[in-house]
Amino acid sequence: MSSNEIEHAVALAKEYRERAYAPYSGFTVGAALQTESGEIFGGTNVENASYGLSICAERSAVVNAVSAGHRSFRAIAIAGPEATTTVPCGACRQFLNEFNPSLVVAYTTPDGVEQTTLDKLLPSSFGPQNLT
Ligand code: THU
Repeated sequence: MSSNEIEHAVALAKEYRERAYAPYSGFTVGAALQTESGEIFGGTNVENASYGLSICAERSAVVNAVSAGHRSFRAIAIAGPEATTTVPCGACRQFLNEFNPSLVVAYTTPDGVEQTTLDKLLPSSFGPQNLT
């Protein structure tokens, strides 16, 4: 991902973060998932009074994009609170792995944006190929 593309995706993730529904944790997150064709789908975390039902921003973005007919993804940008680093949780790493184990993952930190790939965050992953 070029630095321009990252900046754009992170900016969108920040916009989505403003829509987060996180009354219990107060930890608001936005995500922007880029398809192979260059479209971007956003997501936010959506919490619930039954805490365990809460969904992360990353999975919201995947659900949003897949619902619109997309299954090929190039990158995801994640924007969390400025004072901390927001990398995808374990559940989201697995969820993202379904569609692209080498997805580019850009995320906010107190010092700016970092970039990695999903296979570094989720080595030796279990995915669709293991079910054939
Ligand atoms: N959360 C995300 O949406 N994405 C992450 O990468 C980390 C955690 C959400 C889940 C929960 O609503 C809140 O942040 C605190 O864990």
